[in-house]
Amino acid sequence: MKKIVADAAIKEVQSDMILGLGSGSTAALMIRSLADEIRAGTLQNIRGVATSFQSEVLALELDIPLIDLASVSQIDLAIDGADEVDPGFQLIKGGGACHVREKLVASKANKLLIVVDETKLVQNLNLSFPLPVEVLPNAWKQVQDTISEMNGSSNLRMANKKAGPIVTDHGNLILDVLFKDGIKDPKYIEKSINNIPGVLENGLFVDLTDKVLVGKIQNSVPVVYSPSKVG
Ligand code: 5RP
Repeated sequence: MKKIVADAAIKEVQSDMILGLGSGSTAALMIRSLADEIRAGTLQNIRGVATSFQSEVLALELDIPLIDLASVSQIDLAIDGADEVDPGFQLIKGGGACHVREKLVASKANKLLIVVDETKLVQNLNLSFPLPVEVLPNAWKQVQDTISEMNGSSNLRMANKKAGPIVTDHGNLILDVLFKDGIKDPKYIEKSINNIPGVLENGLFVDLTDKVLVGKIQNSVPVVYSPSKVG
């Protein structure tokens, strides 16, 4: 499902574009498809803006020309994955702890295209997938206490194959937050959490998404569709 949706996303790319290169496993497949098109000559003069160390390393390995976020005034199209997508195209991102740069790129993009498999579609955000919040290392406990006063329970995200917490591309830590009844007002929660001292950014992407491509299996065949935004 991830591969067909990644391939479908590349059909939205045109030569001469500055392209935001998302993070995560679906975005990685999209970056690989992009490299194939560039190598074949069907897409020319593409410059990528990486959303993470992961996408930067992959693009370098695949010879996709990169340009720094600070040196572009706008990005034509950003293509990225998501952890949850609601019917109004509000998102939770940050499953890969890359949401700070992902949000910077999405905010600078003329168009944000989200690529997901059907399991990511939800009616209400945060009922099962925790909201990632990037915090300064020495502020994590203070932020956790403040979030708990907002009725959010949180865990410091722990690393694999390293003792202790994961450390983000920016040297910070991640709190994964679940609100008891999920997130009903993403705009309010996004702002409220970002207002806590010590928080760098949270993974709510509000009013940023223009189009969603969804991969699903239908009669044993993988298909892609683009749902209409509700509301
Ligand atoms: C990383 C992200 C990813 O886009 C998100 O976690 C989806 O990843 P995947 O395509 O592997 O399911 O937000 O911070």
